[in-house]
Amino acid sequence: MKRRHRQRPASGSPAGVPQLAASRFHPWFADLAHLSLWHMLTRLPALIATALRWSWKASPRDTLLTFGLNVGAGVFSAAVLTAVVGILQGLFAEGPTPERLQNALPSLLLAGGAVFARAALRSGAIWAQGRLTPMVERAVEVELVTLATATRLEAFDDSEWCDQLHRARSMGTSEAGRMTGYTVDIATETVSLLAVATVVTVLHPLLLPLLALTVAPVGWAAVRSARMRYERMRQLSTSRRLQYMYTHAMTERDSAAELRAYAMRPMLLEEFARVADHVRDAMVAVAARQTSTRAVGDVLAGIATLATYAALVALLLGGLMPLAVAGAAYVALGQGKAALDRLMSAVNSCYESGLYLSDLLDAFAEARRRTRPATVGKDPGPLQELRVQGVDFAYPGAQANALTGVDITVNRGQVVALVGENGSGKSTLATLISGLYTPDAGGITWNGTDIADLAADRLHARIGLIRQQYQQWPFSAERNITMAAAEATDPDRLKRALRLSGADQVVDELALGLATPLDTRFEGGEDLSGGQRQRIAAARGLYPEADLVIADEPTAALDARAEERLFATFQAAAEGAAVLLITHRLASTRSADWIYVLDHGHVVEQGTHSDLMTYGGLYAELYGIQAAAYHAPSPHLSYDDTP
Ligand SMILES: Nc1ncnc2c1ncn2[C@@H]1O[C@H](COP(=O)(O)OP(=O)(O)OP(=O)(O)O)[C@@H](O)[C@H]1O
Ligand SMILES: [Mg+2]
Repeated sequence: MKRRHRQRPASGSPAGVPQLAASRFHPWFADLAHLSLWHMLTRLPALIATALRWSWKASPRDTLLTFGLNVGAGVFSAAVLTAVVGILQGLFAEGPTPERLQNALPSLLLAGGAVFARAALRSGAIWAQGRLTPMVERAVEVELVTLATATRLEAFDDSEWCDQLHRARSMGTSEAGRMTGYTVDIATETVSLLAVATVVTVLHPLLLPLLALTVAPVGWAAVRSARMRYERMRQLSTSRRLQYMYTHAMTERDSAAELRAYAMRPMLLEEFARVADHVRDAMVAVAARQTSTRAVGDVLAGIATLATYAALVALLLGGLMPLAVAGAAYVALGQGKAALDRLMSAVNSCYESGLYLSDLLDAFAEARRRTRPATVGKDPGPLQELRVQGVDFAYPGAQANALTGVDITVNRGQVVALVGENGSGKSTLATLISGLYTPDAGGITWNGTDIADLAADRLHARIGLIRQQYQQWPFSAERNITMAAAEATDPDRLKRALRLSGADQVVDELALGLATPLDTRFEGGEDLSGGQRQRIAAARGLYPEADLVIADEPTAALDARAEERLFATFQAAAEGAAVLLITHRLASTRSADWIYVLDHGHVVEQGTHSDLMTYGGLYAELYGIQAAAYHAPSPHLSYDDTP
């Protein structure tokens, strides 16, 4: 048998607080912190192409408008710059002032017109982008939930997939929207930079290397400061997650009662303060490093600017460049620097978002791989016989099988009971029979056809499932019951399910009856007791006109009267269908037509109640323990745990 050993708590943390595993939600921080600009630039085109594909898919018109208008605005920036050069050339030309003003006038008008046109195009671009981003977000969000809900249940037992889905959900969809904006910024700033480069080259060929010299330190500082940001995110991500977990535990309703009932508060507060101190110290330390990087960047940029201006002055004094051109070059170099600063910031952000976007697309591909179309396959038809033959099953990543070589048969008209101790594999078998998991070996047949060859949606429609771990949905009481069937509510069936499960008494006490939301976050919402919730879950399983009712511990939280009523219901239900009943209440299995006893994933005994009692194995022992508890005098409870 597999044994798990408790890990020693991390040094410095209070007993019982385990060390947090490495974050699988932000796997990029380490990469990003050590990334070269070259690597980033080479991967960027593919990431941008992906973003463009999604933008196009979301809205071709707004994609064209967003890019067209932004690039148009960039072109008018170049026109403004050219006009400024014209103005300066006009003003600094030889001759009397009125003549110089007159010379500068056309350029002045051109500059004014270009500024106006640029502003108009920018406004249009902002409007188009404002429409495009939510459209992209919607497209990826819908795709994500569509694919995630279609994946097979097994996927959710695989922690890799759960992490991938979590990343896709928490980061991917929002980053996909942002990616559009960054892509636009890259296009716009590239156009601006190209415009500046063209203008300065036309002014004087020597100015282009000067422009490169001015902008190089800016680029270096931008990449370096981004790397420091990633490094800090990476260092603090574990602490931030811990902080989040503790804040959640200390402020949420679910944990509020236990926090107060047990001595949790001092320990949680102490742990929270420890993590908060660590975050504070790391932030303070990084602030010093960031300041020094910024200072180095500023000094380098200063030196480069000085060198540029010295070169300009030299050209001016050497008579190689007229004053007007030098003035225009000064303006152009300033614009180029600003454009590159914005471009580098967009490249960094775009690359980071692009990683999350590609992660999201990987999740889409993975979801498709883990999906089997629910509508493909044969119609199961009314159940006559269900057979489980030689089934082995292990949960993904588990070292041991949850089920090994299991054979069981359930016939129409029978109540078949599945009993066994905790962890023996009963719920796992029930889930396999429901068609939600696929066996690793062996097969499950419905009237002789493997259920893998049946249309999953039609199979589910023929099975009434009462799960051991049932969910209360944030919907009305009625929807909580009728959700088991796709079609509109059938009032007769609803009434019957309510009566058979005992949920009728629950609904009678709700202020809005069947319309009451079973969630206090909604107006008029009400909360139910544990047993009341279980009655609703039972009604859900009894609502469909099922051929097979699978009831997994359906009475664990029920009072004696409700329990008796539900077991009688199952007996009655077996007249037109088959019932697979999983229960620890062995008094109720006495009347089952057949009983299978599971132990560590194996069927170790089977037969009727009297067969198994005569056999004197595990069933007889468990039954004996329960029966004795009713007949023995009041037991003397002892805390002595020696066997
Ligand atoms: N989702 C899961 N992922 C991994 N292992 C699981 C999962 N669910 C159950 N197991 C393991 O499979 C084994 C069988 O569990 P199962 O829930 O089928 O037992 P059970 O007989 O229904 O127990 P109980 O009486 O407590 O309901 C156990 O060892 C359990 O730890
Ligand atoms: Mg179980």
